[in-house]
Parts: sequence; C-alpha cells; structure tokens
Amino acid sequence: MKLAILSRNTKLYSTRRLVEAAREHGHSVRVLDPLRCYMRIASDSFEMHYKGREIHGYDAVIPRIGASVTRYGSAVLRQFELMGSFTPNTSDAILRARDKLRSHQLLAAESIGMPATVFGDNPDDTNDLLSMLGPPPHVIKLNEGTQGAGVMLTEKLSASRGVIEALRGLYAQFLVQEFVAEAKGADLRCFVVGNKVVAAMKRQAPDGDFRSNLHRGGTAKGIKASAAEQDVAVRAAQVLGLGIAGVDLIRSDRGPLVLEVNASPGLEGIEQASGVDIAGAIIQHVAGRRKRGRNARRVVARA
Ligand SMILES: Nc1ncnc2c1ncn2[C@@H]1O[C@H](COP(=O)(O)OP(=O)(O)OP(=O)(O)O)[C@@H](O)[C@H]1O
Ligand SMILES: [Mg+2]
Repeated sequence: MKLAILSRNTKLYSTRRLVEAAREHGHSVRVLDPLRCYMRIASDSFEMHYKGREIHGYDAVIPRIGASVTRYGSAVLRQFELMGSFTPNTSDAILRARDKLRSHQLLAAESIGMPATVFGDNPDDTNDLLSMLGPPPHVIKLNEGTQGAGVMLTEKLSASRGVIEALRGLYAQFLVQEFVAEAKGADLRCFVVGNKVVAAMKRQAPDGDFRSNLHRGGTAKGIKASAAEQDVAVRAAQVLGLGIAGVDLIRSDRGPLVLEVNASPGLEGIEQASGVDIAGAIIQHVAGRRKRGRNARRVVARA
C-alpha cells in the first residue's frame, strides 16, 4: 500500500519506527508534516498540495498529530479521508478523544468504569459540586494538563475549595475526581490496535507521589493486562472510534477504571518496556483494514 504518516518530525521515535515497520512489510511510506499540507476545497473537486506539489493516491494515513496542532492536523486528516484514504483514527475520533469532558461523558454512557468525576462552571456551585462527589481526598485535574503536571491531590474539603477558587481565578478548566487510593500510585498503559491489547506496561509513581507519569519520576515495566483490563481498554477505544489508542487505567476495588484514552500514543516507552513490535502490529492492522475496506467498497459498487 501507499502509506502516509502525518507527523511534524521524522526524527521522533514513533515516526521512525512506523516508517521502518512499513518498509519491512513492503509498503511505500512517506512522512508528511500536517502543517505543510494545504488544500483547495470546492464542490466539484479536492486538491491537496505538499511543499509545492500535488499529492494524492494514498491508500492509508496514520496520524501522529500532537495536541498543539489538533485543529489544523485533523482538518488535513479529514481531507485525506474525503479523498478516500483509510485511517485507523479518524479526524472525528481524534477530536472526541482530545476533549476530556466529552470523552468522559461518552465512556460513562457506555458503562466503562472510571473514577467518579464532577465539573462545573459557576463558583456559587462549588460546595454542592463537591458534595456530589463525596468526601475528600479529591484529585483535581487541569483539562489542559499533561504528563502529570496540573494533577493535584487535596486531602481536606477546605483544600479542594481553595484550589478550585484559585483555578477559577485563573480561568482554568478543570475536573475533580474521587481519589482511588488502592491504585497505590500505579497506572496501566494498554496499547490497543484494532480489537486487541498488543502490549501493556505498568507505571509506578516514585515514593511520596501518587502520579505515575514517567516525567514525574515514575518507572515502567511490561506486564500482561488481565482479561478484564484488556476488555475495558478495547471497549474504551471502540467507544471513541479509535483503531489505535493508548488507554490508561488504574486498578480499583471495583475493577479497572479508565483515566484517559490517548489518540496518538507514543511507542518508545512501551516498546522498550514490553519488547513488543508495536509499530509492526499497527502497520499490519492498517494494511488489513484497508484491504477489507477496499473489498467492501467493491461490493457496494456492484450492489
Ligand atoms: N482519580 C485518581 N485516583 C488515583 N490516582 C490518580 C487519579 N487520577 C490520576 N491519578 C494518578 O495520577 C497520574 C496522572 O493523572 P492523569 O493521567 O489523569 O493526568 P496526566 O497524565 O497529566 O494527563 P493525561 O494522561 O490526560 O495526558 C495517573 O497516571 C495516576 O497515576
Ligand atoms: Mg496520564
């Protein structure tokens, strides 16, 4: 197949591995910087150019779109979809996953376990909002936060109120969750490709922290997720419509709880921790799905 990888940087580990795996499996592959794709949209035709030349005819596109270029990147991806390219993660699915409130609502609606979560807008409602959640400790998370920065633990109600007031003063968007103490500072990253968890790793927070992010000093090791964990991870990816996803879970007394579904999960940490050729699994999945999609189109055309 003729494959494009939408990525801003050819040197990134994940991008390099996908290129390598595509070539190993005999596909032609090119990395395209989404910010250098530009297009003409008209009712009679589409045209996409890249660095001065027209591009077309890509069978499949693997998006590796960073959070900072979500809007433009997903518009470029949508254009590829409209031009008939297969993508494991559609532009709509990426936008869904990147919106924390929206994805939490959709996952909860499908009965996927997650920590009880509240959010609200008006300071007058803070007391009642916190009473809807239950007693502290609480975990307060900035919507824009990542890599553990912007995730705070408050042990007392007065602290929760104080932090919420301060965040409101800064016009920051946040949500508040029950603290799942029995997770013991660990979370599980399940890497979903299609309808399978192809690799999983456990990240453990350093002593004295409850956040297991590697950027906060956490450590990772490859593990095998339980059947229940695999099932929740695959269902979470499916609810958001993602063919490739990094699903973060914590272990609780009532089963696995989803913290986040990442639409552009990195390969480096988890390939190293698990020893699994995840890039190869992604390429095989995309090639298989693209072929099935093409056959399906042929059937429709005949019908
Ligand atoms: N409700 C909770 N109870 C217990 N521990 C939690 C809870 N929420 C988060 N944690 C811990 O804190 C870490 C960071 O939280 P989270 O993953 O939600 O934020 P982030 O990594 O900053 O953002 P994101 O993963 O959305 O990019 C988690 O990996 C987990 O170890
Ligand atoms: Mg996280």
